[in-house]
Amino acid sequence: MARGWLIGFHLIGVVLWMGGLMAFSRILGYHSKELPSARPRFTFIEGRLNWLVAVPGAVLTVAFGLWLAIDHGMAWFRVASWMHWKLTLVLAVVVIHTVLTVKHGQIRRAHPAEPMSRGLYAALHGTVGLLLIAIVLLATTQPMSQR
Ligand code: HEM
Repeated sequence: MARGWLIGFHLIGVVLWMGGLMAFSRILGYHSKELPSARPRFTFIEGRLNWLVAVPGAVLTVAFGLWLAIDHGMAWFRVASWMHWKLTLVLAVVVIHTVLTVKHGQIRRAHPAEPMSRGLYAALHGTVGLLLIAIVLLATTQPMSQR
């Protein structure tokens, strides 16, 4: 597949993953402030956002990102230091996404009146936002690139 198509599908995945994850983490924060009677509705919406938007977006991003890297070849990968930094930051996003997914599963199984930490979701939402800025700017400016 021509590189333009690979970048296109990679970026469609990025938009879905980051958009879904930002909304998922933000709504979990609102959820913590809601009355117990409204909480199951929030749990449902969060599940839809995560499993139908953020997770498929992550799969698209990683699949087309890896395809792009293979297309560039090993000689490119060895000297593209920005890419190594980018992958480290992407790993941090994957860890946060996993934590949010596990927490969401626990909330789904818990009683709706169970207290929830708003601070945790606010902190993870802000961290994903900062990681998104850093990853996009690394990918578009490609510092430390020896090409
Ligand atoms: C395992 C995960 C990922 C891999 C393996 C990967 C790999 C790649 C590769 C090889 C390129 C092409 C670079 C070039 O042609 O010079 C690229 C482009 C890009 N990636 Fe990723 N990526 C991943 C995740 C992400 C994430 C999470 C974001 C954003 C949050 C992102 C944003 C971008 C952007 C904006 C470009 C376009 C750069 C340009 O052509 O100007 N990537 N990625």
